[in-house]
Amino acid sequence: MNTNVIVAAFTIAVTVIIWLGTTNNDESWTGNRNVCVGDCYEAWKAENGGSIADIERVKQEALAAASPEALGETYYGQCIACHGGNGEGGIGPKLAGQAVSDIADKLIGYRAGEPRGAQSAMMWPVAKPMTDDDIGNIAAYIGTL
Ligand code: HEC
Repeated sequence: MNTNVIVAAFTIAVTVIIWLGTTNNDESWTGNRNVCVGDCYEAWKAENGGSIADIERVKQEALAAASPEALGETYYGQCIACHGGNGEGGIGPKLAGQAVSDIADKLIGYRAGEPRGAQSAMMWPVAKPMTDDDIGNIAAYIGTL
C-alpha cells in the first residue's frame, strides 16, 4: 500500500467519525444527566428545608452554639478505646473525677511532647493535633464524667 492510499483512508475515516458525531448531536444533552435546577431544585429545597447554603449555615450556627462539653463529647470518641466510655480507665489511667484544669494541663504537656508516666509516648500522638479549643472542650466534657 502506498502512502497516498493510507493518507486517504485515514482522512476518510476521520471525516466519517466527525460526521457521525455531529449528525447524532443531541441539542438537549447538557453533559450532566444529574442536573437539578429550576423546579427540581425548588422542590428539593421545600423537602430539605432550605438551600444547600441555608442548611450549611444552620449547621455552622448549631456548631458554634454547642457547649464545650458537647463538642468535647464528640472528640472524646477517640479516647474511649483507652480511657473507657465513662473515663473509667483501661489501657490509660482513669480520667473521671479529675479536675478540668488538671486534664487540660496534662494534655497541654503531652502536646508539647513532655513525659508524665512511663507510657506517655501513647499520648503524644493523640495530643499533638489538638488545638487549645479542643483541649478546653474535652477537659470540660471529662469534667462531667
Ligand atoms: C492508645 C491509647 C490511648 C488513647 C487513644 C488515648 N489515651 Fe490518654 N493515655 C493513655 C495512656 C497509656 C496514658 C498514660 C500515659 C503516661 O504514662 O503518661 C494516658 C494518659 C492520659 C492523660 C493523663 C492522665 C493522668 O492522670 O495522668 C490524659 C488527661 C489523657 N490520657 C487524655 C486522653 C484524651 C483526652 C484522649 C482522646 C483525645 C486520650 N487520652 C486518648 C492512652 C491513650
